[in-house]
Amino acid sequence: MTYDMKGMRAGAVLALGLTCMAGFAGAQEFRLGTIVPPGHLWNVYGEKMGEALSARTEGRMSVTVFPAGQLGDEGQMVQQLQSGALDMAFLTMADVSNRVPEFSALFTPFLVSDVAQAAVVLNSEPAQALLDKLPEAMGVVGIDFGVAGMRQMISAKPVASFESLRGLKMRITPFAPARDFYNVLGIAPTPMPLPDVFDALSNGQVDAADVDLEQVLIFRFDEAAPNLLISNHMMFPMVGVVSGRVWAGLAAEDQAILREEMDKVLGEMIEEYARVETERVAKVTEMVPGLQTVGQDFFPGVVEKWEASWADHLPLINELRAIAAAAPQ
Ligand code: BEZ
Repeated sequence: MTYDMKGMRAGAVLALGLTCMAGFAGAQEFRLGTIVPPGHLWNVYGEKMGEALSARTEGRMSVTVFPAGQLGDEGQMVQQLQSGALDMAFLTMADVSNRVPEFSALFTPFLVSDVAQAAVVLNSEPAQALLDKLPEAMGVVGIDFGVAGMRQMISAKPVASFESLRGLKMRITPFAPARDFYNVLGIAPTPMPLPDVFDALSNGQVDAADVDLEQVLIFRFDEAAPNLLISNHMMFPMVGVVSGRVWAGLAAEDQAILREEMDKVLGEMIEEYARVETERVAKVTEMVPGLQTVGQDFFPGVVEKWEASWADHLPLINELRAIAAAAPQ
């Protein structure tokens, strides 16, 4: 993205109307919350940001990462960000897209085929412009997007054809774009936070789960559900945010340092997801007996039906599609 676009976002932050406290020259010990478990790349890159900030400011700025929802679920973290009790977070779009439905366009099925293409879409002007909505809608400053891996489906029973998915209970991340993807396919979406998925697959509460390969490798979902459909049906952007109140209390030069360092690690995170994608497919191919790779044609009519249910956002969806189509394949 260009620096100008970030400058425009800084303008949107001013519109928060928060009283700007005097710049604070003392030590800044930032707390960053995530819902993902230790070892997950979001936490790894949160730590890297802390190291970079400490090095750049000779220890004046530091970051402690609180993984695995230690500070609460994302709804609770957003409340803490709003009150200033939490400084920053790496958030999924679950809560964000409930508050700003335009973000849902990023979850258009089969918009991109891999993380490298996702990076092009997320760095584009229409995607970056979505971040400008966060100060007013949520009281947070959206620094930039990161990602997790592309979405796949893991199931207890083999999936011989699309028909064998119909009527199954499919765990989803609790948000509307994923819900509608399965609704239009006649598969029963079952919203469920990540930490509950292994048990739900083991005890039959759900038949299958919408997941990514990093989760399969960390949580070993394959031990409960040994069939994996590599479908790459959606990308999974996340957003790095800073509390609007905390931001307003920072001196302009510290805002610039924080923006640059968070932006940098989020970019590096996306590059790493793109780099390890093929390696992860190779790993799960060795681990998971019932693995098959399918394309968009496995899910008849899903894109048209999903887009019909998100018709209000079609101009943005079409813009993003044009950007994805022009990206290197
Ligand atoms: C999920 O709900 O599947 C999810 C949560 C955090 C990061 C990636 C995926």
